[in-house]
Formats: sequence, structure tokens, C-alpha cells
Amino acid sequence: MRSCLRLGMLGTGLAAKLLYLPALKSLERKIQVVACANRTRKKAEQFARLLGGAKVVDTAEELIARPDVQALLISLPIDSQPEYVRMALRAGKAVLSEKPVAPSVAAGKRLLKAVSQCQSPWLVGENYHFMPHVEKLQQWVSSGRLGDLRVVEAVQINKMDHKNPYFHTRWRREPNFVGGFVVDGGVHVAHILGQCVGRPLRVVSRTRRFDPTLGPMDSAVALLEFPDSVLGTWTSCFAGHYRGPVLRLSGSHGYAELDYSRVILVDRAGKTTVFESKADSFAAQFSHFADVVLHGATPRVTPQEALADLALLETITRGK
Ligand SMILES: NC(=O)c1ccc[n+]([C@@H]2O[C@H](COP(=O)([O-])OP(=O)(O)OC[C@H]3O[C@@H](n4cnc5c(N)ncnc54)[C@H](OP(=O)(O)O)[C@@H]3O)[C@@H](O)[C@H]2O)c1
Repeated sequence: MRSCLRLGMLGTGLAAKLLYLPALKSLERKIQVVACANRTRKKAEQFARLLGGAKVVDTAEELIARPDVQALLISLPIDSQPEYVRMALRAGKAVLSEKPVAPSVAAGKRLLKAVSQCQSPWLVGENYHFMPHVEKLQQWVSSGRLGDLRVVEAVQINKMDHKNPYFHTRWRREPNFVGGFVVDGGVHVAHILGQCVGRPLRVVSRTRRFDPTLGPMDSAVALLEFPDSVLGTWTSCFAGHYRGPVLRLSGSHGYAELDYSRVILVDRAGKTTVFESKADSFAAQFSHFADVVLHGATPRVTPQEALADLALLETITRGK
């Protein structure tokens, strides 16, 4: 099948099982997972079984070297990713690597430099980019439906505890990357803020560790100054409860509120428009990756943008 991407999967942990599996199953005609590898081999075998039979190999090196693997989906603990992204790109394989792009901005810059001569496409996984309601908000803002933006508010609050599967990944609770949960989850929100509002020029922040089981910090609050005098606030807390939108934008002509599956616009006449996302953002992201590799489509999320997302979080978690 000429139009089918032959994918190798490095890392078949939680994200692979909970998030990628349904997406990959829905894309069977476009993406074929030909082989996978995971440090604990049993997990790769289980994943291959659930997917309906991919080859299981023992090491990343073996996976990358396989001639039938055209592209790699790399989904490892954050600090392990750069080494394998570099290895795969240098071997001439296309790469979709999970967010954040690297364990720190400095490591991210080193990685970008190390692969700057590689010709194969490299996308950083940012599934929020592929949520239709996020795109809708971006369109509303850029077409002036909110008028001039005045203030924006980003809020990411989740109670991270033993009931959440990600709590049990030790690499998150004892992180070898900046910011722990605040950064791991926060880059998504930084990305949609970057898309809809832009990048802040100045940041003042404070961080806290309320729950000692959550690593070096679990909360951060920041004041953000954007171009055109737009003001913003940022709130991250992985040790508290909340119910409400992740982004609120207030402009001279209207107000918008975004949560994880829908966006609402209230115009100055008080008319409310609601737009819901039903599509699987991972399926959209993987399908786009296949289009980039197979048909030369322009990547929608570049490593440079992912580095900017990480840079905002790294600044916020510095607490200055
Ligand atoms: N976009 C999203 O919404 C989203 C959501 C969740 C996660 N993620 C990202 O996905 C990545 C993985 O997260 P996760 O929650 O799936 O973590 P996870 O459950 O710990 O999965 C990572 C897997 O990588 C394996 N591994 C580690 N080092 C390896 C190596 N050198 N070679 C082969 N396999 C290796 C681990 O094997 P063991 O079984 O031996 O530990 C584990 O199964 C992270 O970058 C995370 O930020 C993204």
C-alpha cells in the first residue's frame, strides 16, 4: 500500500495504550504500525496484540534500524526522548515525538542544533493543536470577533493523585526535567495560549509544592504581559480541585471561554455561540503526520513552537 505510513513505536506505556491505540485503530488504512519496542518487553507485546499484530523488537536501536520502519512515534519519559529523536532523525527516519520537546530549554536547543542538518520531517506531538474547538477560538480571535484583546486567563487545575494513572509514572513524580507535573501538563496550555493570544513578553511568577508526593512543585501562578498591552494570568495547580474553563479571553467586542471539549463566544450584544469538538485529536495529529511524511504536507507543529511552549513553562516555574 503506497499511501500507508509504516510506523515504528518506541515506548508503549500509558499514552500508547490509553490515547494512541483508539486513534491508530481508526487510521488502519493510513498508518500501519509495523513494529514496536518498549523497555519492559511485555508491554510492547500487549500493545502489539491489542493493535492486531505488530512485530515486537527488544531495543530502540533495532527498531530504528528496521528497513520496514519509515517513521517513528517516540513516546518515552521526557528526559529520554532527545537521545532517540536524534538517533532516529540521523538514521533518516521521520519522527513524531511526544511533548514537551525536551527536559529543558537548554536541552531542547542542543537537540535542535544536533539535528539541524537532518532532512527527515520531525513533528512534536501537541494534540491540543488538532482540537477543532481550539482552531475555532483561534479563528474568532484572528478575525476580530472579540475585538481588541484586553485580558486573558489560563487555568490548569487537576487533582493529581493515585486515582490518576499518570500519578503512577515514577519519572513524573521524581522528574529529571524542569517543573514536574506543572510543565508536563502545562505545555499544552502554553501551546493554545500561543496560538490564540501570542507569546508573553514578560512573566512574573510564584511556585508552590503543596503535595510532597508530586515532585519538586505542583503549583504556579504568573502574571503575563503580551504584545499590544494585553494582560494575562496563569494558574497551574495539580494539588487542588476545580471545575471551569482552561482559557478565558476578554476583548473589546466579546468574551470567549474554552474548556477541554468546547468553546463559547459571547458577543457584545449578548449572543452566545457554542462550538464543540467531537473528533479524536490524536487521530487528527497522526493523520497529519502521515500527510507530512507521505505527501510533503507542511508540519503544523514545529519543534521551534514546542520549544517556545516549553520556554514559557520554564520561565513560569522559575518563580521570579
Ligand atoms: N499528549 C498528551 O496528552 C500526552 C499524555 C500522556 C503522555 N504524553 C507524553 O507521552 C510520553 C510518555 O508518557 P506515558 O504517560 O505514556 O509514560 P509511561 O507510561 O511511563 O510510558 C513510557 C514508556 O517508555 C518506556 N521506556 C522508557 N525508556 C525506554 C527505552 N530506552 N527504550 C524503550 N522503551 C523505554 C517505558 O518502559 P517501562 O515499561 O519499562 O517503564 C514506558 O512503557 C511522555 O513524553 C509524555 O509527556 C502525552
